[in-house]
Amino acid sequence: MADAKKLYIKTYGCQMNVYDSERMAEALEGDGYEQTQDMAEADMILLNTCHIREKAAEKVYSDLGRMKPLHDAKPDLKIGVAGCVAQAEGEEIMRRQPMVDLVVGPQTYHRLPEMMKAVNAGGQALDTDFPPEDKFDHLPKRVLPARNPSAFLTVQEGCDKFCAFCVVPYTRGAEVSRPADRILLEAEALVERGVREITLLGQNVNAYHGHKDGLAGLIWKLSEINDLKRIRFTTSHPNDMDDALIDAHGTCEKLMPYLHLPVQSGSDRILRAMNRKHTADDYRDLIGRIRDARPDLLLSGDFIVGFPGETDADFEATMQLVRDVHYGQAYSFKYSARPGTPAAEKEDVPADVATARLHELQALLSAQQYQTQADMVGRKVEVLFEKKGRQRGQLIGKSGYLHAVHAEAPEAMIGTVQRVRIVNDLTNSLTGELVA
Ligand code: SAH
Ligand code: SF4
Ligand code: F3S
Repeated sequence: MADAKKLYIKTYGCQMNVYDSERMAEALEGDGYEQTQDMAEADMILLNTCHIREKAAEKVYSDLGRMKPLHDAKPDLKIGVAGCVAQAEGEEIMRRQPMVDLVVGPQTYHRLPEMMKAVNAGGQALDTDFPPEDKFDHLPKRVLPARNPSAFLTVQEGCDKFCAFCVVPYTRGAEVSRPADRILLEAEALVERGVREITLLGQNVNAYHGHKDGLAGLIWKLSEINDLKRIRFTTSHPNDMDDALIDAHGTCEKLMPYLHLPVQSGSDRILRAMNRKHTADDYRDLIGRIRDARPDLLLSGDFIVGFPGETDADFEATMQLVRDVHYGQAYSFKYSARPGTPAAEKEDVPADVATARLHELQALLSAQQYQTQADMVGRKVEVLFEKKGRQRGQLIGKSGYLHAVHAEAPEAMIGTVQRVRIVNDLTNSLTGELVA
């Protein structure tokens, strides 16, 4: 289409936003928009935002500020704000930045085509409802060729856990699971488009209850799709790791040996203050049971340092938990007080103390990550090739443990799983050779 309008989407935050951005692009296709990677040529810019920490939320306003000259030069340029900042701040966004035409929350983006009518007529549109209808029922079917053999699929949204520090229950609303049969249809459509690996997404994905046997039931059902080679899921809460799911890690061949299971802190006192509803030893026991089922599983996690009231002893308990568990990969953050959450009322740990703790924890986690990666050298692993590498003749893909792996291989192997012997560890990725 020669006269297609160009849509530029910038995605912040978690994988759920990555999925939502794809769906928003599909929803706007009917309106004649096609995606561009170049903001300068866009007719519409959509920021799909994250509210999890103060910096993430403020980034949106600074990015909007930087778009001002672009908007001045092209007054027809439409600017939309979607995602969790849209949900949390609504009208405030248009007040702070009047050039914004559209504000849409994570549960209402199926209404984008309708909202665009108001915007195209020169007005503004705002929708941050938690509507009774299911947005997934109103989104267009997924028919475009896949850009990557690996895709995200949202199966569960929202959260009822109310950790004392977290905005997600407010921005994404209550826990809702999509029915398994709809997910199967979407998965089959993805596989027909060339997808070979699906990562099931949810803020609390293992609380999924759209199948009578929970997330494990859904995984087993998906594993019956022949050309679907790999299944992953993220993010999980320790209290929702049921026996069936642990068992699937040992018995379901298509379920990859990688698990992101955040614990946040190793101190029982802080875990209680965070409203996590489990102890550090509960978590240690759980990890033990998961590793009994799947000894080579690579474990990932999230940590917060400097939660209000965290003492040196509490922090040391976190360090000890990390030493005991040994993570292959992990994220760690300095606590950021979020408006409206219970922890925001409490007094913060001094910033320099929190910073020092973050550095100490990150050094330990990095050492564990490098160790895990170095241990891969010499091993034979299965790699799903995703695209061409930067060097000629090289493809890049992911191992079951989610390590990026480069290897010389014919282009026809993109989208296939191959056995690869790991020969070198390059810090950010591994290199390997095809095993005949
Ligand atoms: N649903 C996921 C987490 C979503 S948020 C879960 O429960 O694991 C991703 C991570 O951001 C969290 O695991 C936590 O480590 C971090 N996080 C959330 N709120 C935060 C805050 N107020 N300050 C700092 N980090 C935070
Ligand atoms: Fe946030 Fe806790 Fe829910 Fe995760 S489980 S989304 S950290 S409230
Ligand atoms: Fe951020 Fe919302 Fe995801 S706050 S982490 S984009 S659920």
